[in-house]
Amino acid sequence: MTTEWVDRRGQVTTFFPSPLACTRMKTDGGSDAAKRRAGERAAEDVEDGFVVGLGTGSTTAHAIRALGRAVDDGLEIRGIPTSFQSRRLALEVGIPLTDLDAVDGVDIAIDGADQVVDEPDTAAHGALIKGGGAAHAREKLVDSAADRFLVVADPSKLTEQLERSVPVEVLPDAHTLAADRVRELGGEPTLRDAERKDGPVVTDNGNLVLDCAFGRIDDPDRLATQLSAIPGVVEHGLFVGLADVAYVGREDGVERRDY
Ligand code: 5RP
Repeated sequence: MTTEWVDRRGQVTTFFPSPLACTRMKTDGGSDAAKRRAGERAAEDVEDGFVVGLGTGSTTAHAIRALGRAVDDGLEIRGIPTSFQSRRLALEVGIPLTDLDAVDGVDIAIDGADQVVDEPDTAAHGALIKGGGAAHAREKLVDSAADRFLVVADPSKLTEQLERSVPVEVLPDAHTLAADRVRELGGEPTLRDAERKDGPVVTDNGNLVLDCAFGRIDDPDRLATQLSAIPGVVEHGLFVGLADVAYVGREDGVERRDY
């Protein structure tokens, strides 16, 4: 059952308190074997001495574990985590960590996605929706800093056109005004509710997330620019023109896309 909150200007924000609704930002499809193949293939591209951006999510976790095994075997790298989750996993598997402000650059970033446009003849080919784990602000920072950004995905993430809700991280004070601006752009914002905590999801940066449904997104680049211009928006989950390669794990191997 949803609950609705009406602010003093009569604007309605919908809350989805059920566990089903809370997990809907992640795709249910995609086998763990496919995710593992994609993650492990991407980890093979990491070379000795590299600074590596460590993305967030279940697919990237396979890459982080593979890198941990390689470190055990003598690979010398430094990782930059994009979330509390990826930091904890990297520490657990023994990857030495550093920070963006302590390095000259990032050689490679490996990160997952919630949707990937797979239409080579369109301008949006390789555009992504990220932020199913609410980590997209740090992910965009690290992924865009990398010389090469590798996306790791299973086939359930591939799409002709982006159509999932776009996660938008907002300053807590800005959530009603930012929601109004999203509505003006034709979107339907929903404040992401937490699981096993009353109230909303609070990001690693102390902010809130509006999941914004726009239906099929004809021009992701334009929408990305419009969302970035909203005061109080910290970052949104449209990653346009950032990915260099996607590794798509399948039951019997890995497909590669170059952008
Ligand atoms: C987190 C993300 C994740 O990379 C995205 O949700 C994909 O996760 P998974 O590999 O678990 O499907 O953007 O903010």
